[in-house]
Amino acid sequence: MIRKFLENHPELAGFAAGADLVSPADASLACALLEEGQFHLYADWDGPGVRDAEKRHFLKTLATAHGAYPGGLPSYIANARKLLAEASAGGNPFEGCSPEQPDLVDLSGFGAAYDEAEAVGLKCFAHSAVVLVAGGLGERLGYHGIKLDIPVEVTRGTTYLAHYAGVVRAASQRLGRQIPLVIMTSRETDDGTRATLSANGNFGLVDGQITVLCQELVPAISDIDGTLAMEGKYNILLKPHGHGDIHMLLHTSGTAKAMEAAGVRYLLFIQDTNGQVFNAALAAIGASEMHGYDFNSIAVNRIPGEAVGGLATLVRAGAPSLTLNVEYNQLDPLLRATVSPEGDVPDVRGYSRFPGNINLLIIRLAPYLRVLESSGGIIAEFVNPKFSDAARTQFKKPARLETMMQDLPKLFTSGEKVGVTIFDRAWCFSACKNNLADAAAKVAVGGPPESASSAENDFYLAGRMRLAQAGMDVMAGSARPIRGVPFVAGPRVILRPSFALTLADVRERIRGGAISGDSTLILEGDVRLENVTVFGGATLVVLAAPGESLALRDLTVSDGPTFSLQELTDAEMASEDVPEFLRIRGYRIVDGGVVARGSANP
Ligand code: UTP
Repeated sequence: MIRKFLENHPELAGFAAGADLVSPADASLACALLEEGQFHLYADWDGPGVRDAEKRHFLKTLATAHGAYPGGLPSYIANARKLLAEASAGGNPFEGCSPEQPDLVDLSGFGAAYDEAEAVGLKCFAHSAVVLVAGGLGERLGYHGIKLDIPVEVTRGTTYLAHYAGVVRAASQRLGRQIPLVIMTSRETDDGTRATLSANGNFGLVDGQITVLCQELVPAISDIDGTLAMEGKYNILLKPHGHGDIHMLLHTSGTAKAMEAAGVRYLLFIQDTNGQVFNAALAAIGASEMHGYDFNSIAVNRIPGEAVGGLATLVRAGAPSLTLNVEYNQLDPLLRATVSPEGDVPDVRGYSRFPGNINLLIIRLAPYLRVLESSGGIIAEFVNPKFSDAARTQFKKPARLETMMQDLPKLFTSGEKVGVTIFDRAWCFSACKNNLADAAAKVAVGGPPESASSAENDFYLAGRMRLAQAGMDVMAGSARPIRGVPFVAGPRVILRPSFALTLADVRERIRGGAISGDSTLILEGDVRLENVTVFGGATLVVLAAPGESLALRDLTVSDGPTFSLQELTDAEMASEDVPEFLRIRGYRIVDGGVVARGSANP
């Protein structure tokens, strides 16, 4: 096959001579890439027997990237050329757009509207699937393992994956339906995720309930002609394609279609390290159902200028309007150039009219399948080259096509309804993204730390918020900095999904009582508390096994073995003997011999 190129390209002779290594599929891919002008990939190969292992690896890498992309590498190159030409021309993506506040439901103040949405959402959750995107490298955190293995709290050591799976398991049992859990991994996270699932018996989820889809890297591109970048001979340079790959994988694997057949109506997209997501998710699904949202972003109130993307409806003359995430540094100039000469001005509460995007999405399956079908799962790719020449044809470093899962509405064409549901910030979002030093630096300039410690802090805070919503008297301790990141020592409250999935559950199971200071409360299973007080740094752990019901009444717990927080010393922070999941937060929580009530295993 390669013969037709050889006459004009003698540099391909070495490749042609290596026929033993090249399968018919490799040869056909080579021809397709040579048609695209990618001669450098196969040029000047060493003769047979020289560096054969590297050649094999090279061919395998190309074949994998080809197989993973709809339409293969020729399509990838064609898409890259088109997007690079647009980037080189330097157009304004918001030309002719004027931003308006999106269709939104504000549940940040809780109350009756929240309760109604949550009750509707709980029912809809029986016909939902959870999609967890967990292919990210976590470079800002720098943790040497998969992020899903990091404990969201270190009192009991519940990892993110155990927490998410625990919610899916409890909801499946309660609603009588196996709620699917899809996990997107990447090369960096696939082995670790599968190992964790297998070591933990899939966290009690049944066979077939979990689907793992692994995203592949895409080739980097070195110039405006779409030349695939090399990293030395026989080594193609690959880069991540972004979390928008989840749409492609749900489509190409047939998972989205299979879900339709299984009666799924909503997909809830969540991230790898946000322990708060299930506080708000059910009410948000309820909001989708009640307001007919095909695409619903869980969002937070945002202060103008804050470095969080703003959700805005972009109204365009002669075209349907689009509700999208607009990066904060683009939103203000867009507002100034169109509807608001003063830029992004605060409302009476001090918030922008454009809520903050936190990339937690609820998508109705029926319109989603239509978009996947028509796009082949390639969702609004973009490219961000840094040009090195005035003509805008050469790059400072190789670029690649990227895709973001929140950009799906860019492909809506049939009047799909896009909405936003706003929640209290700490209630719905607190990510573990930054290493401790960077987190402290962010705190110093008034930003959110988004460290393992602030995520744990907010996890307990949400527990306290739930108790307070149930009418318990909750008195939190004061915050103190631990290595520059504020941490409220207590009360540390962990309400397991088997205890409560909704605020209504917490209200039903807890009556009166009080909790204060550096105390700990952990409730699991069918437990009821009436007029129970925990104070003075004491601990109450009640764990009801499945089928067991436990009720505690008129009880005060003020002493006994407890959990206590202990900051790590400098030596411990530097010691490999201290688990990394503790060093990324700067403290441990020591179990002083707490004895749980009830018969469930802790
Ligand atoms: P983040 O940007 O927060 O995570 O991605 P990251 O990419 O792991 O972190 P840094 O930037 O390297 O520090 C948001 C979510 O998208 C997933 C992440 O795992 C996280 O849940 N993600 C990101 C993917 O699944 N695939 C990707 O290619 C990128």
